[in-house]
Formats: sequence, C-alpha cells, structure tokens
Amino acid sequence: MAAFASHLPLTAPPRAQSRRTHDFNLTAAPNQVRLVPEPYGRTDAWCFNGTVPGPEIRVRQGDRLRITAKNGLAEETTVHWHGLRVPNDMDGVPHLTQRPIGPGETFTYEFDAIDAGTFWYHPHQRSFEQVGRGLYGPLIIEEPNPVRVDRDLTWVLDDWRLTKSAAISDDFGNMRDVSHNGRIGNSVTINGRMPKTFAVRKGERIRLRLINAANARIFALDFSSHEPRIIALDGQPTTPRSPKGGLVVLGPAMRADVILDFAGAPSSKTPVIDRFYKGREYRLVDLAYAAAPLRDRTPDWPIELPANPLPEPDLANAMSHDVIFNGGMMGGGVMRDMGGSMNSENGASLREMMHAGKIWFINGVAATGHIMEPMLTLARDRTHRITMTNATAWHHPIHLHGHSFRVISRNGQATKHREWQDTVLMAPREKVEIALVADNPGDWMFHCHILEHQAAGMMGVIRVET
Ligand code: C2O
Ligand code: CU
Repeated sequence: MAAFASHLPLTAPPRAQSRRTHDFNLTAAPNQVRLVPEPYGRTDAWCFNGTVPGPEIRVRQGDRLRITAKNGLAEETTVHWHGLRVPNDMDGVPHLTQRPIGPGETFTYEFDAIDAGTFWYHPHQRSFEQVGRGLYGPLIIEEPNPVRVDRDLTWVLDDWRLTKSAAISDDFGNMRDVSHNGRIGNSVTINGRMPKTFAVRKGERIRLRLINAANARIFALDFSSHEPRIIALDGQPTTPRSPKGGLVVLGPAMRADVILDFAGAPSSKTPVIDRFYKGREYRLVDLAYAAAPLRDRTPDWPIELPANPLPEPDLANAMSHDVIFNGGMMGGGVMRDMGGSMNSENGASLREMMHAGKIWFINGVAATGHIMEPMLTLARDRTHRITMTNATAWHHPIHLHGHSFRVISRNGQATKHREWQDTVLMAPREKVEIALVADNPGDWMFHCHILEHQAAGMMGVIRVET
C-alpha cells in the first residue's frame, strides 16, 4: 500500500502564525517505580522514559509532533495516539498500519495536532499486558486561547493488581478476567502515586483533565460538595454541564475535562469517592484546603471551549450500519450459546472457541489479531450512522480509531448534548447510535477498550475508502 502517496492530509485548522514542529523521544523499557508508599518497596513496571505515567506531551493546537519511539522491551511494541485524528500510517497499530517496533528498534511518528484537548498514548501490541504494566502517558493539545483557570492539571488514573509485596500480579489475560469484566485491580493510582491528600485553596478554579488509563476499571467520581462541570469529553469540547448525579463516569480510555471551583472552608478536607461498583466504593483522595484562601469568591470567568474542526454529520443523508456485540459470561458462569449466530468456522463448538481465546464477538466474529477483513467499509466523506447493540451482560467502552463520532441516541432516546467521543461506554443490553463523517481514509481499529475483552476477540476493522 502506497501509504504516503495515497492519502491527502487532514485539514488542519487555519493558523496565522507559522506552525512549529516539536520533537519528543519516548523509550519503552522496564524500570522500578514507587506506586505504593513506604514501607512497601518499589514496583517493577514497564515505563515510558522511566516513569509511570510517561512524560506529559504538551503542544499547541496546529503544531506538529515528531515523536521517536524506542523499544527497550524484550518484545515488540507500537505507540497509538488515542483519540488523535492522525493519518492512518501514524496510528500505531501493529501489522495493520506499521511493522511492530522490535526490541532495540525505533520508529518515528509524525502528525499534526488538529484538535485541542486531552488525549493519551499507549502501545497497541499486547496492550492488556503492556498498558497493564504501566506503558501510557498523557498528551495534551492546548487551545490557542484556553479558558482561564488558576491551575490546569492532569490526573491519569490507573488501577493495578498488586501482590502483598507491591509487585504487579503477573496473571495477565487469565480466563476469568477475560470472560467477565476484565482485569480489575486492587490499587488505584493518580499519576502513578497513591496520595492521601490533594492540596487546594478556597476560591481556586482548576481545570482537571481526567484520563482513565486502567485496563478495565470504570470510574464514577464523586467530588462531594464540589460540583464538577464537564467542558470536554474525550478531548472534544461539550456544552458545559454538571454530570448526572454529580458523578464523572469514565470507562477505560475515556477522558473528561472538568472545571472545579473550590468553595470549601479553609483547612477543611473533603473526600473524592469512586462509586462505580456498588458496594465497592472507596476513597480515592482527600481534597485538603490550605489555611489561606486564594480569593473569597468563586470566579465567574467563562468556561466554554471553542469547537474543534470536526466535520458535522449530515444525518438526513446518512448511510446506516448495524453492529452487535456478543459473548462473555452471561451469569451462572455460562457463556451464552449464540444459536449459530457466531462465526463458528468449521463448526467449532463453543468450548473449542473459548479454548482458542475467542470469548467476545463483533457481528459474530472474534478477532485473533490486528489483521482482518473489514467488518464495515465506509464510503469516504459520507455521513455514517452506526447502531450498536450490546447483547452482553457487561459494560463495554467502544473505541474507534482515526475519528471522533457524535453519540446521537441511547436506547432510542436522542442524547441531549450529542457529545463527540472517541470511546463510548455501553451499559449491558444498551443500544447506542453514533454518527460520523468518514473523512480519514484507511483501515481503523474498532474495539472494546477493556483490554482483556479486546485481546479475546472484541475488535474489528472499519475501512474508510480511499
Ligand atoms: Cu486506546 Cu485501539 O486504543
Ligand atoms: Cu468489553
């Protein structure tokens, strides 16, 4: 495939100043990190540039990034720029968009920062273990004129399964995790640490960029008396609003930019609680007010972000597609027999398919690698409406590469904000409609971002015609 010659560049936003190219180096390699406080020891992890998370990459919208990735692991890897609308050959999908980076090798990624927002990077090779051992980092594209705040901060959330000696449990990809809700851990970190408190000041306004880098854990953050206002989801600006029940819900890979105004009493403490799993709520961190206020009143600065240059779907002229997700345990410890609707090659039995690690299916097919026939082929520059049905007993955060899409309905009800996302969380049995203009040609991964589900088949390719 003449990848360089055949695709046109994506339209970058108009920009008066000359755009800059920023060079970065990322090396993936093992290192020891302090995830858990003393008296525990340090944890052997896999890191970008020696840390977990990897370094925050931060550039201005319209700038160009050139990132040389070096593989210091003992196995192949790649780097995927989650949520960024990059040309297909820069997307970091092994075999499909590039040859994987072998041990000791390098690969240079180069692309424009088209959209401002909160993004992240991670390997796409054996993600369930490589991301699970710590390979990920934040990628922030600043607006030319960001909303005014006192602090602009990133919290990369992760969930680790640690042993009593603070080592990463090496039971990656075990059948129980794979066939249920993925690798849920026992230790949640903020930026690779487990802080007891987070220091704030009365009157302060923070833009908090939340990134869920966990393999499988879904978060529902309750900031207690503080009312977070969401201004962007998955990097894309949205109408500022308070989330339902005050909870900021983030499936794996999802991001939310929230504005937090700190109006509590000086020297007081308020917990942030994760309430997603009923009966398993826990305190993530305490917001600890300094004795001295920053200001007496909450600022009234505007919080609405300017839109990114996304092509608007034309629903009246949309082409329609159906996608159904199947598989996994259905309760009572059994997988549902799909009554022949599964792609049972050569009449393979359910047991044989499970044995081959085919647990999850999209339109009846369980992926076994990154190379496959496209499950959908989308006419270029047309609007496509994709109706997705979650026929399983589990949540799934479904991610499409190379595009953002509008979430237009849930269970037949139009969504109020038609939010742009690159990863949409589907509840068990839920039906979700998304719409997008297929303007980025190439073969793009479409998969569940619960990394154990992805590895056990919940992945497909969507082709945008060139
Ligand atoms: Cu965040 Cu296909 O990945
Ligand atoms: Cu899933």
